[in-house]
Amino acid sequence: MTQQVQGVVAPGKNEPVRVETVLVPDPGPGEAVVKIQACGVCHTDLHYKQGGINDDYPFLLGHEAAGIVESVGEDVTEVTPGDFVILNWRAVCGRCRSCLRGRPQYCFDTHNAQQKMTLLDGTELSPALGIGAFAEKTLVAAGQCTKVDPSVSPAVAGLLGCGVMAGIGAALNTGQVGRGDSVAVIGCGGVGDAAVVGARLAGAAKIIAVDIDDRKLETARTMGATHTVNSRSTDPVEAIRELTGGHGADVVIEAVGRPETYKQAFYARDLAGTVVLVGVPTPDMRLDLPLIDVFGRGGALKSSWYGDCLPSRDFPMLIDLHQQGRIDLAAFVTETIGLGDIEKAFARMHEGDVLRSVVEFS
Ligand SMILES: NC(=O)c1ccc[n+]([C@@H]2O[C@H](COP(=O)([O-])OP(=O)(O)OC[C@H]3O[C@@H](n4cnc5c(N)ncnc54)[C@H](O)[C@@H]3O)[C@@H](O)[C@H]2O)c1
Ligand SMILES: [Zn+2]
Ligand SMILES: [Zn+2]
Repeated sequence: MTQQVQGVVAPGKNEPVRVETVLVPDPGPGEAVVKIQACGVCHTDLHYKQGGINDDYPFLLGHEAAGIVESVGEDVTEVTPGDFVILNWRAVCGRCRSCLRGRPQYCFDTHNAQQKMTLLDGTELSPALGIGAFAEKTLVAAGQCTKVDPSVSPAVAGLLGCGVMAGIGAALNTGQVGRGDSVAVIGCGGVGDAAVVGARLAGAAKIIAVDIDDRKLETARTMGATHTVNSRSTDPVEAIRELTGGHGADVVIEAVGRPETYKQAFYARDLAGTVVLVGVPTPDMRLDLPLIDVFGRGGALKSSWYGDCLPSRDFPMLIDLHQQGRIDLAAFVTETIGLGDIEKAFARMHEGDVLRSVVEFS
């Protein structure tokens, strides 16, 4: 039977978000309904509200979530009701050319639930990243549910559903940071700090955090940064070169999503080094670089979707590392809030006051 739940809807470009009644259908074949326990506020939710992703309003926001599977549709074998899961936004298909080549982390045909959640008047909602988890319950594809150790707190587990996985994976998977490498991270919000954590986990010898906000730099230090640079007052390219014997870092991770910070990353990297773009640009942004520099500096210019993660491989592994005390995911949760507090959380994110505000459901 279709259920009525409360969810946070972005009605139109830059309009304030509202808590609305959302209709959640029973799961069809290949689908699951998940009772959400916690969902973090990610910068991408704000991008949706501002029209930076697409114009498919109204959006049902929220995508960094963990919860309990309530019901599953026909033929679902991945999960069963009662499972504690993290929701992922890249359910791999197993059949596309990338999956068939043994690279499911790049799956080119990821999928979401077929049925639509709606408002009371029947208006179809576009769930953010195919999830829509600022809601008491949501409908997803069963492949979007990844089972993990239920002893971890939902507020912590949910973080792996987006930003923290994107950052850790940008360092571990996309950047392939290795023992002894020098790494710079530009933009130390939730995603950038997670890249710092990933770089430390990989054994980087030097981790240089760059931000325009000193408070963010202090937090980055507690996450494992060995050096910090405030790029409002100091040229970050020169500072990173100076800290790396005049050469630049082996891996530079851009976690802002702007042309000027991408350029900094490009020039702050050593010859044959790697740039990883994990920040999400808006469609109007352009990059202008001398092609001779792209050629002459060698190396790799990569972008990182979701940290190139494979949820079934990476989520349980990172939860285990957290439970063993080898990484501290709880440090990303600045505050827990209610469903009605999303606008306030956006404002605090904008002001740089938080790494993650996490909505907790009772
Ligand atoms: N690629 C992916 O899969 C993926 C996943 C999640 C989020 N993201 C993106 O990652 C980016 C960061 O997300 P977040 O949640 O950490 O956001 P956030 O707002 O918490 O953090 C952004 C940080 O960048 C800093 N910053 C802003 N302008 C800067 C500048 N010019 N130079 C240096 N630092 C600057 C801010 O002070 C802040 O600390 C966003 O673009 C988000 O959409 C990407
Ligand atoms: Zn595929
Ligand atoms: Zn996100």
